[in-house]
Formats: sequence, structure tokens, C-alpha cells
Amino acid sequence: MSTTVRPTLRVKPPRPTGIQKLITSGSRAERSRHLILTVLNPALARQFLRQLCRGGWLVDANQSWDDTAGHCALSLGITFAGLQKLELDERLLDVLRAKAPAFAQGAWARASDELGDIGASAPANWEPSFGPASAHLLLILHANDDTALTAAQEQLVQLAGDQAFASPWVIHDGLHLAPEPVGRRVHFGMLDGLSQPAILPEPPGPVGLPNAMRNSHRLGEFVLGYDNDDQANPWRLAAERPAASRVLAAEQSRVLADFFKNGSFAAFRKMAQDEAGFRRFVRQQAETLQGQHTLTQAEAFIRAKLLGRWDDGRVVQATDTMSGGPSGPDATADFDFAHDPAGLGCPFGAHIRRMNPRDDPVVPIRRRPILRRGMPYGEPYNEKVCKKDDPGRGLLGLFFCASLEHQFEHLVGQWANDTPMGPNNRGNARDPLIGHNDPARHVYDIPLSDTTALALRGMTPFVTTKGTLYTFFPSLSAIQQLADR
Ligand code: HEM
Repeated sequence: MSTTVRPTLRVKPPRPTGIQKLITSGSRAERSRHLILTVLNPALARQFLRQLCRGGWLVDANQSWDDTAGHCALSLGITFAGLQKLELDERLLDVLRAKAPAFAQGAWARASDELGDIGASAPANWEPSFGPASAHLLLILHANDDTALTAAQEQLVQLAGDQAFASPWVIHDGLHLAPEPVGRRVHFGMLDGLSQPAILPEPPGPVGLPNAMRNSHRLGEFVLGYDNDDQANPWRLAAERPAASRVLAAEQSRVLADFFKNGSFAAFRKMAQDEAGFRRFVRQQAETLQGQHTLTQAEAFIRAKLLGRWDDGRVVQATDTMSGGPSGPDATADFDFAHDPAGLGCPFGAHIRRMNPRDDPVVPIRRRPILRRGMPYGEPYNEKVCKKDDPGRGLLGLFFCASLEHQFEHLVGQWANDTPMGPNNRGNARDPLIGHNDPARHVYDIPLSDTTALALRGMTPFVTTKGTLYTFFPSLSAIQQLADR
């Protein structure tokens, strides 16, 4: 862990136009509404998209969120089934089948094998709105209050008319648990929104090189049509044809590539959190620990070692103790694990070390950055509310990346649902927050020295998947092109 103060890389260069703003900037709004739509009449659905474009509903990365012609800001994702239903050109669908097979097959088909969604999280148990044949459009509204969201939804329903889509539209509402200055926490009481990849200017200047510690990456890691950190652009779609037809093929490839350029893939994943179970587990483990600490201190220590950050956001350090609490610098996104090779600060199995190993000496070089744009749902846990009256809570995760296979699926299916990377004292538990842990088999190790570890047993899955959609967030011009088809 380095504490050196470095010049910040948070430069705000103009982004190429056409990218939907939610991808590159996220939203600061307090609330979100996710509407899942089923197309009934393709021509009318395309007309609806045309009206969204004309009416200035969609926000370009270069615009401000307020530039939305008096509407609530809207973002639009489309599933592969949705693109088929909207009668997208077969040649474009073929490109997706070849280059983005996870997207083309859809989350439902891949979740058990590629995302570790088994048992209660298996697709067969997902909420019906995530059905592979019926989930076509994902409209996301952001605003600071419910009234604005409902007013915007009503306008959208009017624009659509009653024949374009099945009704009623399915709603998943997100809300932050506390207003911004207080800090944005997710259920389980953890501070979130601290670490987000910085996107380098395109093309990156001499100082703008990918840097794991600062978590900075090239645009092509998130948006199609640009070089990624490996300086490869898989969406250039260069013509691979015999010389005689090369000129024509090159022109066709350019037309196809233009459709994908400035688009991004997103996994929308609804995850229910078992807050009572999580608290119970932490309490039980804390009660077994002997020493000069209080029960509250022991609980905070265990929570920190499971996530990798203390409740105040500070990254857990080798010098931190149960009775002394955090000793590191303020909550930051600018750190790496190069100075913690034995996991004495942040265990190898902790959520943040798995999800973003940065310059971890023990992991493969290729990093798999992801932009997190989700929001919690449900009211904060209150143990006085009886279980049967509790509507539940969790996270409406929205994860943007250029490759669902290499980024999202790799994180969730492999890094979260496998034995942690690391040399010794790493246990065999899955990710403590999102992994499918078996209380009878899995042991979560908190290394205390090079040879000793605190072993936590009896961990259950604390998060259950309620549904996942793989969506494509096209550029504004691609939406127009689809609408005008
Ligand atoms: C209910 C489920 C989840 C909860 C409660 C949760 C909670 C958290 C929290 C509290 C943080 C630390 C805040 C921060 O560093 O900004 C975090 C970081 C992160 N999470 Fe999750 N998370 C969940 C699901 C997921 C999933 C499914 C993924 C993978 C797609 C994921 C990927 C990440 C990443 C990449 C980071 C940033 C790590 C870093 O850059 O240091 N999380 N999560």
C-alpha cells in the first residue's frame, strides 16, 4: 500500500459523442426506476425509439444530465431478444453472435454455468420479468424523487401508446439509503461508490497509460470501437475477405462497425441481500474471538476483512487491529495490493481484492475492469420488522463493460466463485458477499501472520440472484438507426 500523494488523473476530457452518459459518468440522482418492456409490435416500438431520439430523452456523454428537454434523464439498454424483435439487420445480429456470444445467448442461458447461479439463485427461480423471451428493452430513469420518476414514466407510456409493448411495464425501483453527503452505503451497512475505474482520454496522452493502482483504463475496456488496455480493438471489424472483394468488404465492415461504435454491454443483475443472516454470521464469529476488544470492535474487524474496507471506507491494512480499528489513509480508490503479498491487510478472499486485484502480485496480468452504476433497492434493514412483513432488500447492480464474457462473467463466475488467489492462508471460501458458500465445506481465512490465519466457518450465501439481463446500450446514432430501419 502506498501512501505517496500523486498527481490525480481525474482529467475530464470530452468523450466522443454518441455514448450514453450513464456509461461513462453514472448519475448522482437519489433514485432510479428500471422498466423492463416486452415488444408486441416492432414497428410501433421502433416509432417509440424514434420519439425518444427526437424528444431529447437520451443523454450524450458530453451533455449534462439536465439537458434532457425537460424530461427525467433516460438510458436505454436492449437485450439480444429485443434487437431480434425490433428486426435489427441480420448481418448485425450475426456480428453479435460471433463477437459477443454471452450477450447473444443471454444471461438466462449462461447463468448456471458462467455466473455460479445455482440453488435459490438458479434462473428457474428468477423473477418472471427476467424471462429470456419477454425482456426486450431496459429503460432506466434517474431523478431525485418518486414524483419525477412517475411523471416521466407516464410521459413514456403516452409516447409508446398501448400497442407497442405489453402492459403493465415491469418496474424495479432503486434508492440510495442516505443522501449523498452522508455517504452512499449499500445494505450490509458498507460504504460504496468509492472505487470506480477512471477512463483515460482517447487517445491516451503520454501520461495517460493504464495504471492498475490508479485504476485507470482505456476507453475500449468499456465502450466498443476503441483500443482496450491491450491496445486491441475487437470491434473495428476489419474485413477478412479475399483480395478481390476487399474494397466492398471494407466498406461493409465500416457500416457494421459504425453501428456498434460507442455502445457498451451491461449486465443488469437484481441481487437480494440477507441482511439478518449476514449480521448473525458476523456476530457469531465475533463472539468466538478472545482478546482486548469489545464485541462491536470484533464485528467491525470481521466486516472489514470480508469486504476489504472498514465501515468508513478505509482499505484494511496489515497494521490494523481489532481493538485499534483502521490505521490507513482516508478512503481512497488510489491503492494497490503490491505491498500486501501475504494478505495480512486485505485477505485474498475479500470482495474488493477479488473484484479488482489491481497490482496484486499473485493474479494474472490482464485486469478486468467494470463500471458499476447500480443502486440499492428496499428500505434499510430493521430487525423489529417481522420477517413475513419484510419486503426485502438488495442491490440493482448495473455493470458496464466491453466484454460480458471477459469482464462481468469472469468476475462473478470465476473470481467470486472460486478459491481465492494467493499463496497461503487463503481458505477455500467463495466471495463472502456474492459467492455461493456452503457452510459445511467452505472456510474463509483471515491471514494473521505468514503461517497463521483466523478461520471463519459456517458462511452461507448472503446474496441471492433474482434475475439478470444482458443488455446492449447502443450509441445515440445506433438507436436512431435502429428506429429508422
Ligand atoms: C449485493 C451484492 C454486492 C454488494 C453488497 C457489493 C458491495 C460492494 C462494496 C461495499 C464495495 C466497496 C466500495 C467501493 O470500493 O467502491 C464493492 C466494490 C466492488 N464491487 Fe461489489 N458488491 C456486490 C456485488 C458485486 C458484483 C456482482 C460485482 C461484479 C460484477 C461487484 C464488483 C465490485 C467491484 C469491481 C468493486 C470495486 C473494487 C475496487 O475497485 O477496489 N460487486 N462492492
